Amino acid sequence: MEDQPKFPDLTDAERKVLEDLMPDEVSEIITAGLKRRHFLKLITYTGTSLLATHLLGIEQLMARTTTGAPLPPPPTGIENGVNVTVNVNGRAQKLLVDSRMTLLDALRERLALTGSKKGCDHGQCGACTVLVEGRRVLSCLTLAATCQDKAVTTIEGLAKEDTLHPMQTAFIKHDGFQCGYCTPGQICSAVALMSEAKNGEASYVTPNVRQTGKPVKLSDEEIRERMSGNICRCGAYPNIVDAIREVHGDKAVAQVWQFADGTI
Ligand code: FES
Ligand code: FES
Repeated sequence: MEDQPKFPDLTDAERKVLEDLMPDEVSEIITAGLKRRHFLKLITYTGTSLLATHLLGIEQLMARTTTGAPLPPPPTGIENGVNVTVNVNGRAQKLLVDSRMTLLDALRERLALTGSKKGCDHGQCGACTVLVEGRRVLSCLTLAATCQDKAVTTIEGLAKEDTLHPMQTAFIKHDGFQCGYCTPGQICSAVALMSEAKNGEASYVTPNVRQTGKPVKLSDEEIRERMSGNICRCGAYPNIVDAIREVHGDKAVAQVWQFADGTI
């Protein structure tokens, strides 16, 4: 009996990327037995930033803005209601919120900005990290009512139109995510980390904590320490460090793909 074409390790999304990339050759390539590691190498060679947009997890990283989309209706019977105006991603948003509502819930449930994730809801994972007045905060531990007149930036507000923030671009280039769940928090945290280092704020591993005011050079150790509040269950840490180092150093950091069998 003739062997049927096999699609060994590729997911549907990956097959779709391959079809878009090589519509004429795809069946020949797949019939010949394309392994997933070959596919990954292929997309590395052909420019990941475009192709990676097809892959799973990318939506988390981009977290497209919902500007203009209808907002969910406000809940009825709000207890302890507080009127608050928050500037979210450059737009003033007037909300009546329960005084106990967290910023994370207000963003997700009232403003439909679901890029920020609820991982633990206890301040332990960093998935909900957003910027308030340019500083990173855990939105699950921040009350929405305390954000009156404050500027809040979420993952949806980092890109300018179709141009990604350099940190988003670097995360794509270095494959700094797998499932993408922690990624919005990682990226917001990394963006704030840049200004903290630029302002000379010391961390636990800064050699000279008295040398304030001068920009801190971010070693891998500094990056790891400063990002230690953002947990990644997929373990994308090495690639996250590479992405941050690239943006910090303003020069290209080589992509390194190491496979289980030791090949690069
Ligand atoms: S959801 Fe906020 S730290 Fe985990
Ligand atoms: S990419 Fe999956 S949790 Fe970080």
